[in-house]
Amino acid sequence: MLPGTRDPMEPKVAPIDATLGAVVTNLDLARMDALTWKTVEQAFHDHAVLVFPGQNLSAEAQVAFANRFGDIELLAPDPEQKAVAISNQKPDGSVMGADEHRFKSLRGNEGWHTDSSYMPLAAKASVLSAQVVPSADGETEWADMRAAYAALDEATRQRIAGLSAHHSLYHSQAKIGHVVQTGGGYGFHTKGAPLRPLVKVHPVTGRPALYIGRHAYGIPGLDEAESEKLLSDLIDFACRPPRTYAHRWQPGDVVIWDNRCVLHRARPYDYREVRVMRHTRVAGDPATELAPTHRDDRAGAYEPSSSNR
Ligand SMILES: [Fe+2]
Repeated sequence: MLPGTRDPMEPKVAPIDATLGAVVTNLDLARMDALTWKTVEQAFHDHAVLVFPGQNLSAEAQVAFANRFGDIELLAPDPEQKAVAISNQKPDGSVMGADEHRFKSLRGNEGWHTDSSYMPLAAKASVLSAQVVPSADGETEWADMRAAYAALDEATRQRIAGLSAHHSLYHSQAKIGHVVQTGGGYGFHTKGAPLRPLVKVHPVTGRPALYIGRHAYGIPGLDEAESEKLLSDLIDFACRPPRTYAHRWQPGDVVIWDNRCVLHRARPYDYREVRVMRHTRVAGDPATELAPTHRDDRAGAYEPSSSNR
């Protein structure tokens, strides 16, 4: 190659018009050399959300891609199943009804959240790939908690410094009228509700970010109403332009995001249509994503554990 010319397979990283996100093209995620991987890893830390259009990864290739970022968080009872479907389609091909348990979990995803904050070990990153998309809507949207923290006024920064919140999937689902018994799915456990600081310093970039979302509740030192108001005010402030990006999916698209510094939510669509996404979750590092738990009154028991399994 001549000096100054561009390698034709050098990945192209195009920042999105928001404080987060980039579209990455001119690469095959299933066949990355060391230099391409370095570019992707750096872009992940710079932009926190990476969109890879038209990758059409197999399940194995998606798991291998996620595995480059860390251990896979196992979401299904079968430890061999490292990718799961996020879908409103039932095994017989029909779509779920509005009052079905799993449909209510999908609707819960429409609230701003970060993955697995309700588990002892919160997630590092999440990968989604689009398999079947509805004819309209059904976007996934992300919000930049680094930029949100940077935009806070000094009084709010001082107020939240040192504050923590509990995180519980029982809590967030109950708020949308979905009361689930212990054992009723991933997250409905007896390990207790993790207590996590409202400000998280990113272990790689060192940037502070708001660590909030719909699973957060019960800030120690504040009464219930004050806690609820502070947490919802922070979400309202944080999750707005220019800190948000909504991706309209095409089948084959792959997105990875950094759960340590962004919130995300699913957007509604016509639920009579089928939507199938394939999801792989990257486990957090115990040194920085493991949190002590406290009794969760909505759980059937309290058996503290530092393991997500
Ligand atoms: Fe999620």
